[in-house]
Amino acid sequence: MAPPDLEQEKRLAAEAAAELVEDGMLLGLGTGSTVGHFLVALAGRGLRLRCVATSPRTEAAALELGLAVEPFAGIERLDLAVDGADQIAPSGWLVKGGGGAHTREKVAAAAADRFVVVASSDKPVDALGPPVPVELLAYGVEATLRSLAPAELRGVPASPDGGVIGDYLGPVGDPGELAARLAATAGLVEHGLFGPELVDEILVARGDLVERRRP
Ligand code: 5RP
Repeated sequence: MAPPDLEQEKRLAAEAAAELVEDGMLLGLGTGSTVGHFLVALAGRGLRLRCVATSPRTEAAALELGLAVEPFAGIERLDLAVDGADQIAPSGWLVKGGGGAHTREKVAAAAADRFVVVASSDKPVDALGPPVPVELLAYGVEATLRSLAPAELRGVPASPDGGVIGDYLGPVGDPGELAARLAATAGLVEHGLFGPELVDEILVARGDLVERRRP
């Protein structure tokens, strides 16, 4: 059997998500290649929208496509946020942050009345595993890394908020327990585990079909 065309699947899932957007909405734009397809589909709909972006990369791409992007300041809630994922567990837990944008992505998802995840068929997994992205305060970063061990820094530029991007490399086990442990680590700004309570709908494209699931 031919391997799935993942780029085509990302595009299909993204197009399905773009159909959920209504005129006048306040939208959260995630980060990544699947979101890139979403931006194109969204711009193609020609709706009147206000958008906030979760990364400079998304902001630049959205502006290039003619979408109206504004700072996430003075805005208390979003109607809808759309984003990709690195891993999707059957329980609805996600690992995000492959692009290092998980802190802002989590803020946007939490602020949205509806958070929709778009993905190709390689993203659902039986159980979540490492790496789990983390954003750390630059202050005392080696000490934070030590208390997270096993963990490593990615060696990529700092986040737009000045955070250091790395990955926790240990086993995930129960994602709720690990999320609580990571969140309780001093110096950790945010981790890439997203709980099912944040997620309203997951659109996974498989070949020509888009499966819709609610955690
Ligand atoms: C960025 C993310 C992305 O949504 C995630 O890495 C998926 O990316 P892609 O759509 O390129 O597969 O969390 O921080």
